[in-house]
Amino acid sequence: MGKIIIDENYAGADWYFMLHPLKAILVTTADIDGNPNILAVGWCMPCSHKPWRVAIAIHPLRYSHKLIAETKEFTINVPTVELAYQTQYCGEYSGRDVNKFKEAGLTPSPGKKVKAPSIEECVAFMECKVVNLFNTGDHTTFIGEVVYAEAEEDYIKAKSDSRTVPNRYFDPGAVKTLLHLGADAYVTASSELYKPDVPPPARSWKEQQLGKN
Ligand SMILES: Cc1cc2nc3c(=O)[nH]c(=O)nc-3n(C[C@H](O)[C@H](O)[C@H](O)COP(=O)(O)O)c2cc1C
Repeated sequence: MGKIIIDENYAGADWYFMLHPLKAILVTTADIDGNPNILAVGWCMPCSHKPWRVAIAIHPLRYSHKLIAETKEFTINVPTVELAYQTQYCGEYSGRDVNKFKEAGLTPSPGKKVKAPSIEECVAFMECKVVNLFNTGDHTTFIGEVVYAEAEEDYIKAKSDSRTVPNRYFDPGAVKTLLHLGADAYVTASSELYKPDVPPPARSWKEQQLGKN
């Protein structure tokens, strides 16, 4: 047993398995008449502390790509394992063919600052306005600025003893995160907490953040 080379011949288009599991999210959109759609997304990450910004990579063939490009808005909804079926459904069917809210049995809740509805059954949502987009290969990466967000209060925990951020997180005992392994497979996070006892650096985390060299 040792490391093997992962190349075209070994992994084909699936080379990115090395970075999974990634948290699955549900991105909601609306067309210019307000008709909503949902797609499952694994390729999503925060990309700015302040302003609050997130990046999502969407393939141009997705119907949602057209809607986001047209409306410059989208909402990120956070599902849990209880919504694994609905997430997979929204990741296999296209809004060009079906009404995914109706077919997946999800409840739309009117958007606060964007046209796209959020999903009632999700534990959090972030409404975003597109501030930039990049062709990052065969996907377009949309950068969204968070203009409004809500999360289930009962599930939020805060650590008072943290010397670095984040000190707030969803209680893994209460919220079973939906992590996408790839294709139609998911896992969830264990609630085992790892808290490495790293000695504090000479310059505090905040000083480093402020860029004092
Ligand atoms: C868990 C999961 C994650 C996915 N992640 C992405 C992604 O990050 N980007 C993307 O373009 N498509 C992704 N897909 C595929 C789209 O969700 C899928 O093509 C969907 O049917 C597109 O819907 P639409 O045509 O209504 O926009 C994912 C699918 C699943 C099941």
